[in-house]
Order: sequence, then C-alpha cells, then structure tokens
Amino acid sequence: MEQAIPDNNKSSARSGGQPLAMPRLQLIFHHPLYGQELSQIDHLEKDRIYCGHGLDHLLSVARIGWIYAAEHQLSLDRELWYSCALLHDIGRARQYTEKIPHQKGGKELAKQILRDCHYDEKEIQSIAEAIEGHRGSIPPAPKTMAELLIWADKKSRNCFCCSASGSCDWPPQKRTDQLCW
Ligand SMILES: [Fe+2]
Ligand SMILES: [Fe+2]
Repeated sequence: MEQAIPDNNKSSARSGGQPLAMPRLQLIFHHPLYGQELSQIDHLEKDRIYCGHGLDHLLSVARIGWIYAAEHQLSLDRELWYSCALLHDIGRARQYTEKIPHQKGGKELAKQILRDCHYDEKEIQSIAEAIEGHRGSIPPAPKTMAELLIWADKKSRNCFCCSASGSCDWPPQKRTDQLCW
C-alpha cells in the first residue's frame, strides 16, 4: 500500500554531515539519563495498581499515534514522533520523588537528552512543547504532533478492562471506555 506520510529519517544527516554510528532514536534509548529515569520509573511503579509509564506505554503511544497519522495522512516525521512518544513520560520518576509535574520535569530531561542525540533546536522545541502540553484535553481530531501526543497517550490506556478503574481519578472524558479499533 502507498504510504502518504513522509518518512524523513534524518539520522545520517547529523553530526556535521558525518553519518551517526546509531540512528538518533537508538541514541535516545541508549542515553544513560534515559535508561536511568526509565529504571527509576519501573522501580517506583512496581506496586502501582494504576497505569504504568514504562517502555510498554511509551511504545504503545508511539505506535498508536503513528497508525493514526498514517490513516489520516498527517504530515509528521516518524523519527520525531517516535522520539517524542519515547520521551513524553520521562519525568515521571521525578514527579514521584521531587513532586515536579512530569510534563515540566520531563520537558527539561528530554531537552538535555535530545541535545546529546544530535537533534537541532527546532526539533527539540517541537518535542519539548508537545511533552509540556501532553496533559491537555483530548482533541477530537488531532492534526499536530502535540495534539497527537495527547490523543495517543489516552487511547493507549485500556480503561475498559482495568481492575483499578473503580478508584482511578481519571474523569470519564479521559477514559478509553471501550475497545477502540
Ligand atoms: Fe504523562
Ligand atoms: Fe503517557
């Protein structure tokens, strides 16, 4: 099937024109700060009965969002989108330990990681803005990366079969109350 979305994998265009040893998405995944924060999230959420914020969730958001983008012919850079999704909850451990709202703490962590992984300032800014705004109300028809992040973040949650839904503080408008496809 024809793919309408441009897939501009820019990894080889970074590092002063020299190909990178690793695609930028892999650089994020292998960044020490990223690994450290993800491990902390896993550790701090090990007894959590509500939704988790580990790698499974981050990849669900990335994939659900990318499917939506493909089906709706959004003009979205796949590498940028996956980077955004992989980083969007990276501030969660700091929220637990330092009471910093994770969209704010995560934005700063993401900027630091992205700079080390050869993203340019424009790219960093667009990801940072999406992370900072990802707790907003759900757009009915997402068009931008920031809107798609809010949408995919909620759609990734299986509220319709969650055993903790009785005590979850999510309002009805945020919940995925039935199987979506
Ligand atoms: Fe979040
Ligand atoms: Fe999330």
